[in-house]
Amino acid sequence: MNPNRLLSAALVALVTLGAPIWIALSAPRWTTHASSTPPATLAETGLYADARTLTVADGLLEFAPQYPLWTDGARKRRWIALPPGSAIDASDADAWRFPVGTKLWKEFAFERRIETRYMELGRDGRWSYATYAWQPDESSATLAPEGGVAAACESSRGALHDIPGRFDCLACHEASPSPVLGFSALQLSSERDPRAPHADARESGVTLDELVARGLVRNLAAELLDHAPRITARSAVERAALGYLHGNCGGCHNSRGALAELGLDLAWSFEHGSRTLATTLGTPARLQGNGLARQRLVAGAPSDSLLFQRLATREPYLQMPALGTHLVDVQARELIAQWIAELGRRERNSLAHGAAGTRR
Ligand code: HEC
Ligand code: HEC
Repeated sequence: MNPNRLLSAALVALVTLGAPIWIALSAPRWTTHASSTPPATLAETGLYADARTLTVADGLLEFAPQYPLWTDGARKRRWIALPPGSAIDASDADAWRFPVGTKLWKEFAFERRIETRYMELGRDGRWSYATYAWQPDESSATLAPEGGVAAACESSRGALHDIPGRFDCLACHEASPSPVLGFSALQLSSERDPRAPHADARESGVTLDELVARGLVRNLAAELLDHAPRITARSAVERAALGYLHGNCGGCHNSRGALAELGLDLAWSFEHGSRTLATTLGTPARLQGNGLARQRLVAGAPSDSLLFQRLATREPYLQMPALGTHLVDVQARELIAQWIAELGRRERNSLAHGAAGTRR
């Protein structure tokens, strides 16, 4: 299928279905904006106690997902604010429900702060998306135009960084059961994956255990309270590979969202674990074309695997993720190649054992 057509079909589906309606909890004395009108300046969103010194407001929690999104090497910081007295409902471990008035921020910096992205759950039960572009002297940040800002600055390796437009936010954030992608049981688990690419070594963020202990996350399944959530895999490389794909691809490629029809599920879920191999290994690619691998994943052969090809290119119509980056994530490319090689060794071993078995 024409990639553009499928992407625009997905966007149309997103726009017509709109955001899911969450359970509304009352939020007294808390400024919750109507979803259509994001504040004009970052200062007005409530991120800072003092916008001149950039002192972050009390009560905000900083967090760092263990499988972060690659954005051409941008340094990122993230915060969440929950309305006083409210809590997150974690009864669906794969799609937490946030209280009305929840605010989330994500700051991007290369040489300097460049943009701070913002999401807020409005009174109408819809998430609003906005991003604030920083002045070159970092004195303040103002609402970026809806279409984004192309070539807003140089990224760390000489390429350009685009500030995304609102449609881009929706394409990534509204194609899975929860629009919040990095604040989840798996992403905040106390047992962090030591091999996860680009993970924040500082481990500065709030953990799932702390959130539960403070009563900010409720109704989490007992087994996730007893054992820190983690991806179960056959090797450390496989765990990190599945985690990377979850964090960078699973927001779009999952079985509950707008692109489910593609039948490509790269998300990890507590409900059914990983379907990554089940929906890639030996599966013919939908998109067939000159120079493109014919299968999504071939054990032992990265270059014959469309998943690897599309992650390792920045050809505009082929690159994966489809948006948000101009540079190949070299660390991830190595990890995924290593994992595909390991799958090949595993297959050969099991064939050898199978052959030995028949001879006996
Ligand atoms: C290429 C896909 C992509 C695009 C485009 C994108 N985001 Fe995100 N965003 C993510 C992912 C994945 C995470 C979680 C992982 C992380 O933070 O590293 C995230 C995290 C966030 C967070 C922290 C809360 C959360 O969901 O974890 C905010 C706030 C946010 N994004 C806002 C925005 C806004 C506003 C836009 C548009 C201006 C935008 N994003 C565009 C993929 C994207
Ligand atoms: C912003 C949403 C989005 C993100 C994030 C994303 N993709 Fe995709 N992907 C798409 C869309 C839309 C298509 C279908 C159109 C096309 O083939 O270009 C697609 C198609 C694909 C295909 C082709 C499937 C086939 O059978 O032809 C592969 C493989 C793929 N993506 C891998 C990935 C990987 C790996 C990542 C993460 C590194 C990723 N995608 C991240 C939107 C996304």
